[in-house]
Amino acid sequence: MGALRIAVFASGNGSNFQAIADAVQSGKLDVHIELLVCDKPAARVVERARNAGVDTFLFTPKEYPSREAYETEIIAELERRGVELIVLAGYMRIITSVLVEPYYGRMINIHPALLPSFPGVNGIGQALAYGVKLTGVTVHYVDGGMDSGPIIAQTAVEVQDGDTEQTLGERIHAAEQALLPSVIQLIAEGRVALDGRHVTIRQD
Ligand code: GAR
Repeated sequence: MGALRIAVFASGNGSNFQAIADAVQSGKLDVHIELLVCDKPAARVVERARNAGVDTFLFTPKEYPSREAYETEIIAELERRGVELIVLAGYMRIITSVLVEPYYGRMINIHPALLPSFPGVNGIGQALAYGVKLTGVTVHYVDGGMDSGPIIAQTAVEVQDGDTEQTLGERIHAAEQALLPSVIQLIAEGRVALDGRHVTIRQD
């Protein structure tokens, strides 16, 4: 059996993409990154993909009449390449049923907060503004809602007195870069089972 074929979707810096690519490179993660999908052709993540030798599918949303229109092109490309798992890693766009339906249970997202707290944009800033003492990161399956799908794994990060978005963000990003490749590896090993809202991980 070949390595699990994944596509990473990202919109910006791509530190999570880099963590995945580095884990593949070092042999800690046994998957093949088939494709980076990016809605911002000038984003830093595109350069990271090129440096890692990963193919890219770049598009500009406003050139399409609807979300469904570009997702239809994306899905054709994913199917052509036999992509088995989609990893949303800082992909800042709403996903429609065009992608969710065929990939339900095979599409995961990383979010910079302990869901269901602080979904949507700027989870780090939302947690700081609220004044929580504990926040963190969540990896979850993607359903039709906003960061609402079944939770696979979470890591807690303490908020410290005087934290700013910058200082807390650095610790959140470090936690993300550790958690996301490890969850992908568990999925690649077939250890992750989804049953309704509940996800179990076989550890043997
Ligand atoms: C990450 O912190 C990720 O959790 C967040 O965007 C950042 C992307 O960073 N995603 C969301 O907020 C999704 N709701 P990166 O481009 O350096 O990987």
